Amino acid sequence: MTGDGTRSVRAGLPEPVAYEPTLPGPVFAAHFHLPGEADGPYTYGRDTNPTWTHLERAIAELESPDERAEAIVFASGMAAISAVLLSHARSGDTVVLPDDGYQALPLIREQLEAYGIEVRTAPTAGDAQIAHLDGAKLLWIETPSNPGLDVCDVARLARAAHDAGALVAVDNTLATPLGQRPLELGADFAVASGTKGLTGHGDLLLGYVVCRDAGLAARVRKWRKVVGAIPGPMEAWLAHRSLATLHLRADRQAANALALAEVLAKREEVTGLRYPGLPSDPSHRQASAQMRRFGCVVSFDLPDRGFAERFLEALRLVDDATSFGSVRSTAERRGRWGGDAVSEGFIRFSVGAEDAPDLIADVERALDGAGSTAGPRT
Ligand SMILES: Cc1ncc(COP(=O)(O)O)c(C=O)c1O
Repeated sequence: MTGDGTRSVRAGLPEPVAYEPTLPGPVFAAHFHLPGEADGPYTYGRDTNPTWTHLERAIAELESPDERAEAIVFASGMAAISAVLLSHARSGDTVVLPDDGYQALPLIREQLEAYGIEVRTAPTAGDAQIAHLDGAKLLWIETPSNPGLDVCDVARLARAAHDAGALVAVDNTLATPLGQRPLELGADFAVASGTKGLTGHGDLLLGYVVCRDAGLAARVRKWRKVVGAIPGPMEAWLAHRSLATLHLRADRQAANALALAEVLAKREEVTGLRYPGLPSDPSHRQASAQMRRFGCVVSFDLPDRGFAERFLEALRLVDDATSFGSVRSTAERRGRWGGDAVSEGFIRFSVGAEDAPDLIADVERALDGAGSTAGPRT
């Protein structure tokens, strides 16, 4: 088996064809020549596209290097999440969601409940979802959770869910397939927003679902055709191009995140610091058992909203922006959205690929400035 770097640079490449490019360019087509019967690999642009095929092979190779799996790409992470839940849950079914996951999950909950599906929720920490599996059809896991960075034991939860007759889906957005492989840990679906660390440049939206069971994959694929939540060929091609540097970005961003977390741990105005790669973090033991890289998101509390706003304003190398996973650092006061159970001073910091000393100096200068403007703290 090849290493992560080799796999990333070669993922999904077609067999070499003389005088053709290594990664064929994006195919812009609404329809394809289709003589005779309506079958063949490429028919209509909402069903299939050769640029997706290459990307789907690449993502499947990364999420499941040792066993054949099928990937289905979507227009966004939310399109991928909705596809798994809405193609598999029926009226009368029960779905278990985390109560501390991505802030659009409550919108999904509303939609599921409108379709007569019972939704139970529990925190990610302590594998608390395990107590709610009785009679469930599907367990949805998000680990590490966004933005709180709690980690649960995927293998343990998957075993318990399967014993209860439930399917298991893991949102792998934050970890990326180089950080965690949910299918190897027993999940039926690895689902992610490719908008974040997978593609890493903050310039496109994408989502994907990967599963090893052909029947499960077929339902998700059919859902994409029905709903039409397809990625554009340009986005799909850009995403594939970005995969060649995934290992470089993931390593560099995780190293920078750890370096920043170590500095933040020593700052007295910082509380509630979370980074699964930090040995003192409550998630570290479980994260080390199932993750191979700890991601690029660090979260922490500053004393209050004003302090947090001054900090963000003072940063020069870090954009005040939502999302995460980009090579350019971003940070935001998460409470501005109103959807997460976080304090007014809570910061979600996505660490980029800058030089760590530059980034750390910028953050320390911004913290000093935000603190001094407020006057002496008691
Ligand atoms: C953990 C997680 N899952 C899914 C999504 C949704 O992805 P997208 O914005 O590509 O629809 C996000 C977006 O922030 C996320 O953080």
